[in-house]
Amino acid sequence: MSYNIAIDGPAGAGKSTIAKRVSAELSFIYVDTGAMYRAIALYLLKNAIQPEDLDSVKYALGEIEIAIRYVGGEQHVLLNGEDVSGQIRTEEVGNMASKSSALPCVREKLLELQQKLARENDVVMDGRDIGTNILPDAQLKIYLTASVDTRANRRYKELLEKGTDCDLEEIKKDIEQRDYQDMHREVAPLRQAADAVYLDSSDLTIDQVVEKIKSLAK
Ligand code: DC
Repeated sequence: MSYNIAIDGPAGAGKSTIAKRVSAELSFIYVDTGAMYRAIALYLLKNAIQPEDLDSVKYALGEIEIAIRYVGGEQHVLLNGEDVSGQIRTEEVGNMASKSSALPCVREKLLELQQKLARENDVVMDGRDIGTNILPDAQLKIYLTASVDTRANRRYKELLEKGTDCDLEEIKKDIEQRDYQDMHREVAPLRQAADAVYLDSSDLTIDQVVEKIKSLAK
């Protein structure tokens, strides 16, 4: 039987950094489910489809094939065979993913792929509803969060390092809006599973969080 670790939490809590490290150190694969939602969002943006236009979204989903593959241990996401891993990392795509992921038909589309990966592999899977919906029987569930200010500051530094012009207050507003959307949607909202371990990373280093999760897994 495969061993599954589910990590859920709001945007910017450090889930992907932590999940990547934990998976590498345990020789598990890392599954970034946000990237799959982002790939669908990218398709909608490219084709000028509004998430409110449900018929067009449903039609589009029939035209979309999402797959993942691993290159040197890194997850790459393929949209109809094209590697879109770079293109999905923009604020525009993130905001669209937050909106379109609220639609049941979008979630339905990815459920099977995510569950299959976890059935066939030892995984660290991160997202919003992994512990609550996708992998309710995961052996270890973590709810990883951090204060809004901490998350906004981290994102701000990340963007500055990339040389992107940005405004801290704007980033904070964006994060608050995404938190609200992710936590208040009707289907599979972000919340802590009853049996998840709550970890606030605001005052912890990456190493400390990684060690904590590894010791919980053991
Ligand atoms: O983690 P991220 O920023 O890449 O996720 C982008 C959006 O996708 C996020 O705002 C909510 C959505 N998402 C989701 O609804 N369920 C998941 N399991 C992962 C992401």
